[in-house]
Amino acid sequence: MRVVLAGAHGQIARRLGRLLSARGDTVVGLIRNPAHESDLRNDGVDPVVLDLEGASVDDVTAAVSGADAVVFAAGAGPGSGVARKDTVDRAAAVLLADAAERAGVRAYLLVSSMGTDSVAEGRTPDGMDEVFLAYLRAKLAAEQDLLGRTGLAVTVLRPGGLTDEPGTGTVTLARQVPRGSVARDDVAAVLLALLDAPRNGVVAELVSGPTPIADAVAGLD
Ligand SMILES: NC(=O)c1ccc[n+]([C@@H]2O[C@H](COP(=O)([O-])OP(=O)(O)OC[C@H]3O[C@@H](n4cnc5c(N)ncnc54)[C@H](OP(=O)(O)O)[C@@H]3O)[C@@H](O)[C@H]2O)c1
Repeated sequence: MRVVLAGAHGQIARRLGRLLSARGDTVVGLIRNPAHESDLRNDGVDPVVLDLEGASVDDVTAAVSGADAVVFAAGAGPGSGVARKDTVDRAAAVLLADAAERAGVRAYLLVSSMGTDSVAEGRTPDGMDEVFLAYLRAKLAAEQDLLGRTGLAVTVLRPGGLTDEPGTGTVTLARQVPRGSVARDDVAAVLLALLDAPRNGVVAELVSGPTPIADAVAGLD
């Protein structure tokens, strides 16, 4: 399988890149910082330097051409403000979808976030700070854009709070789950399993839990 990872130097993406390359898949990693190229090569991932806040759809289309799937695991990150939530968490995810459609790549996995439902239909949860609100709204807007497309088979994964604890190989994965956290290792393993069995139009929340990942993914409808 040939997979393109957006935000490929991110913490989840690197874990996923290593899992894919270790089993012999071809992985292309989109990064914005050329200093990260060597890390990706060491992971067995082919780096392509492309700033998703500045790239044209033609550039991204060329990068994803020939892929079986794309994974959006980029994010503006904890130090960013309202503006970059929109330019990365929403607009870059949409740009990747435009490019995937143009290139004829069917499967798209979006790493979103738990909590997006809380801002649906313009709601503003009491006491939520403006940056987190902008983040959830950007994630929700990306989800809605992608799920509205007929040219892509989209799976939206909404992890809970991410941790760097070692993965357990077991999770709770369903359309709605109680709030919680999940190890990035386990998120990457779930993404790997979803790449092997892509869905179309499924939105799933993910936290730590007792179900082996293969069973959790197989049971997702
Ligand atoms: N933190 C949480 O608890 C939590 C919970 C649920 C979901 N999430 C979401 O899960 C996803 C992955 O999380 P993570 O911890 O793996 O993220 P991360 O380590 O912050 O990685 C995000 C990556 O996106 C890249 N990026 C940012 N702007 C870019 C641009 N313009 N062009 C290309 N790449 C760009 C960053 O590149 P640089 O390295 O160059 O900055 C970084 O490598 C994110 O979307 C995050 O919002 C997080």
